[in-house]
Amino acid sequence: MTVIGTGYLGATHAACMAELGHDVLGVDVDPAKIEALSDGRVPFFEPGLPEVLERTMESGRLRFTTDYAEAAGHATVHFLAVGTPQQRGSYAADLTYVHAVLDDLVPRLEGRHLVLGKSTVPVGTAVELQERVDALAAEAGRGAEVEIAWNPEFLREGYAVKDTITPDRIVVGHRTDRPSTAVETAREIYARPLDEGTPFFEMNLPTAELVKVSANAFLATKISFINAVSEICEATGADVTRLADAIGVDDRIGRKFLGAGLGFGGGCLPKDIRAFMARAGELGVDQALTFLREVDAINQRRRERVVELTRELTGGRLIGRRVCVLGAAFKPNSDDVRDSPALNVAGSLSLAGASVSVYDPQAMANAARVFPTLGYAGSVEEALQGAEVVVLATEWRQFRDLDPAATGELVDERVIIDARNVLDADAWRAEGWTVAALGRALN
Ligand code: UGA
Repeated sequence: MTVIGTGYLGATHAACMAELGHDVLGVDVDPAKIEALSDGRVPFFEPGLPEVLERTMESGRLRFTTDYAEAAGHATVHFLAVGTPQQRGSYAADLTYVHAVLDDLVPRLEGRHLVLGKSTVPVGTAVELQERVDALAAEAGRGAEVEIAWNPEFLREGYAVKDTITPDRIVVGHRTDRPSTAVETAREIYARPLDEGTPFFEMNLPTAELVKVSANAFLATKISFINAVSEICEATGADVTRLADAIGVDDRIGRKFLGAGLGFGGGCLPKDIRAFMARAGELGVDQALTFLREVDAINQRRRERVVELTRELTGGRLIGRRVCVLGAAFKPNSDDVRDSPALNVAGSLSLAGASVSVYDPQAMANAARVFPTLGYAGSVEEALQGAEVVVLATEWRQFRDLDPAATGELVDERVIIDARNVLDADAWRAEGWTVAALGRALN
């Protein structure tokens, strides 16, 4: 098989498919990525992936190329794993990369091929892509028959290897107007997880596309729900973390994704809910998803709240105040800073005149590329040195484990905002810290 697109999703998928025993060629137009991967280096942080990459490359089952002709000759199954970012100036998803892959690949194909889409796309895309590849194949005149099917991905960054090798479900959407080999092929590819009892769902193309985006929209809604309640907690002296514990034991609700705090970011949830709204608008059913606008707004308000809280804790003026922001990645165990709440807060504080010192265990280089004007410290200690307020913005283990007494020796003022609700506030207060948090009246 080939896996086309070797970002967070594609590189993981390629290595994990090789780990499952398949003969995999990873394809990307970015020579730097392909060079790194061919040298056995993962060009981003994903725990466990370097080991899988090394093992599978050594076994000879995994290679990488920038050459589409090689890709066309290597396999009859092609996974499509390129990005579908938010379009500039619009909520809609940008399908440029998806189209470019098919435009490059299909004219080179001969015989029967199956393209299994993994990228998150607006509902209706697969049907359009089938028309596109039919036209491309006809134009090329090589007699190729290319089927488009959809096999959405549910992996979480930070757990990508586990989520790919032992997924919690496998979803395959296939065409219904013509014969399809998608289900049979997918069952063969995923034989190992299926033998282990992984639930398998086959469905039509629009359903498969919608499963993915609905799952992400639900997760985003769950987070914004608890963050909306968090605002009420702040206005009433209630504690959102105790509240979440108490409602979360109801297994109809569940405690997961009720982590109140700075809210969601990353390359998926924010852009997926926006693309979902945009698509609903195009379909003339925009009212169905107007609530997602509120989900987005609640999420953005949490970032503003942290900036305001920092301002309050510096006596109302941020100009020239030294603020340490712990975290730049959108979540722990990742170096991804796409739409990162932490980096957004750090940037806003800096734009408001504060002198910001950021530290993240993995995301420093990515953060510096996106926001070069922030102060980046070489270590957590350096970031804390002389701070008047500390903002814990991404809940890395290293930050959760900070010792309040030792940390107190480094800062100028013992003031911390626990924007992820992960610290033991009593232990910090016992060392003389003022602890502020979201959704909890602590002082
Ligand atoms: C998300 C989904 O969880 C995956 O199932 C999906 O495959 C993936 O998007 C995708 O579409 O590719 P991911 O973006 O890696 O995965 O991150 P999550 O673990 O979902 O976290 C998203 C954001 O929500 C993070 O910023 C996190 O800090 C935040 N979050 C999460 C909360 O604010 N509270 C919570 O309780 C949980």
